[in-house]
Amino acid sequence: MENIALNNGVVMPQIGFGVWQVPDDEAYTAVTEALGAGYRSIDTARIYENEEGVGRAVAASGVPRDELFITTKLWNTDHAHDDVLRAFDASLSRLGLDYVDLYLMHWPVPSEDRYVEAWRAMEKIYADGRAKAIGVSNFTAETLTRLLDETETVPAVNQVELHPYLAQKELRVLHAEHGIATEAWSPLGQGKGLLDDPALRPIADRHGKSPAQVVLRWHLQNGEIAIPKSVTPSRIKQNIDVFDFELDAAEMGTIDALDKGRRFGPDPATFNWMG
Ligand code: A2P
Repeated sequence: MENIALNNGVVMPQIGFGVWQVPDDEAYTAVTEALGAGYRSIDTARIYENEEGVGRAVAASGVPRDELFITTKLWNTDHAHDDVLRAFDASLSRLGLDYVDLYLMHWPVPSEDRYVEAWRAMEKIYADGRAKAIGVSNFTAETLTRLLDETETVPAVNQVELHPYLAQKELRVLHAEHGIATEAWSPLGQGKGLLDDPALRPIADRHGKSPAQVVLRWHLQNGEIAIPKSVTPSRIKQNIDVFDFELDAAEMGTIDALDKGRRFGPDPATFNWMG
């Protein structure tokens, strides 16, 4: 497992296990499977409604807390200052933890325009040591630039939809300029369409790997963090078995050329679902 250092020195595994759309009971099983397969980073969120299942799996695993990297996220209804503090406490309590490694603001919700206020509350949580790092998710160049202009703490990461069909080249340049790590959600493009792309098959065959492993390798070699989601044990194992091969420049270029700005998830410039 490879790690990367965030901008405050905290070390984060480059591959994490995502549990979006995994119901609480299934999250317990899937996280147990993932920890057994060697994952040490787990990515959940208040809105996934599976923090308890994640927490139970973490507790039952016996893996020492300081070997784990747990991320959860602030939901869109809780951007007011005091709501952030309350929501964070509630997430910690559902997880059964006394700190998280990374706390993310889930969406900027520009129409509500409270993300600067929410970030200031998250800075307090960070100062208290109850989140070892804080970051954002689904921030665009515009919302990220405003946050950087108006607040003190540079986010450790921006977690965005990112896969070969949506390569986010401009955002990645902006992140690099500010020392913000890029974290990819739906790194496999949610599975089917992307993984069947004919460009991936010859590369996969050359390395004796699957198209999913090739795509994850592309993320790693771009210096990102990726959080593939699966509830299938064989795929959970496969998605972390990506540290024993390397794509060459031509193969990276072939995958870069697949970018077509195709989003599977919502557009963060307008997404204002309150759930
Ligand atoms: P499942 O959970 O049924 O195993 P993403 O992380 O990009 O959102 O992709 C998640 C989707 O991709 C899920 O539908 C998951 O299916 C599928 N998936 C995860 N890993 C693999 C893999 N190694 N090969 C094929 N499909 C995968």
